[in-house]
Amino acid sequence: MSWRSSSVPATPLLLLITSSGLTFVIGALTFFLLSDFYHHSVLVHESPHQRLDERFYRVLPVDLIKFPSNCSEGIPASDVRDFILDNIFDGTSPYEGFPSNETAGLTRKKRIKGWGAQAPVFERLIQEVQPKVILELGSFLGASAIHMGTKVRQLGLNSTILCVDDFRGWPGFRAKKFTDIRQQHGSVMLLPQFLRNVQFMNLTDLILPIPFSTMGSVSYFCQVGIRPDLIEVDAAHDFHSAWLDINAAYALLSPGGVMFGHDYFNRVNEEGVRRAVDLFAKLKGLRVEPDGKHWILRTV
Ligand SMILES: C[S@@+](CC[C@H](N)C(=O)[O-])C[C@H]1O[C@@H](n2cnc3c(N)ncnc32)[C@H](O)[C@@H]1O
Repeated sequence: MSWRSSSVPATPLLLLITSSGLTFVIGALTFFLLSDFYHHSVLVHESPHQRLDERFYRVLPVDLIKFPSNCSEGIPASDVRDFILDNIFDGTSPYEGFPSNETAGLTRKKRIKGWGAQAPVFERLIQEVQPKVILELGSFLGASAIHMGTKVRQLGLNSTILCVDDFRGWPGFRAKKFTDIRQQHGSVMLLPQFLRNVQFMNLTDLILPIPFSTMGSVSYFCQVGIRPDLIEVDAAHDFHSAWLDINAAYALLSPGGVMFGHDYFNRVNEEGVRRAVDLFAKLKGLRVEPDGKHWILRTV
């Protein structure tokens, strides 16, 4: 038998060895990648203090997971109202000369509607924190802000209440319950109606609107040094929006400050609020304190 004929049975053997080798290499690679992925997942879910581990940066761009944490000390609480009037409203209160005849025709004297806006958690935290500056992310028609303003007044405090809202609501919000909120040339009358509600309740000296996006406003506050001691988060409820708001706002809190928000225990939490709160608490090593349908996180 020549060497050629003896090599015929060796070919399948060679193929078998080669393919087993390949299978082994692919298997090993898969195992390595999966275990690396698992390792990172575990880092996120089980080991909060290692979340900024170098290895994490290998797989995610830093900007994706890191939020500003060194906000400027900047502005004393007693100057915050004037700072906002000067820098956002050109030195003139948005309530001055309000409403014009035209705006009055497009709004009502009072049209207040909120969600969980009268919950006991507001009074409890205002009493506990005695806040000088309150920040609300998501104000809509001002129900929760007005409730806070009323409690602040009852408790004899002089808190400045900043209400961040783009005053656009959400796509389609006027379709059912809010058909009466008018729209003109594409501008919905949420901000004017908010102002009218605050005016009606005589709280214009405490409550100021910040008519911009939550992220834009919080970044600005961080940069100029507006440091609230009480923050309520109640803007968009999808995971990514809540995640951004919670991360960015927490960095703003003054030492000893408290952050809280709605939708921890209701239908809406499934959109992502509870997942965002829980993940944030886990990463920061904080305890989530439930209160009714609200969640509370404290600074450490
Ligand atoms: C649930 S409502 C707030 C209700 C209010 N806290 C109350 O109970 O009276 C949510 C508000 O968040 C605002 N909002 C949602 N996403 C926002 C964003 N990214 N920037 C600014 N405002 C936003 C909407 O315009 C809407 O008015």
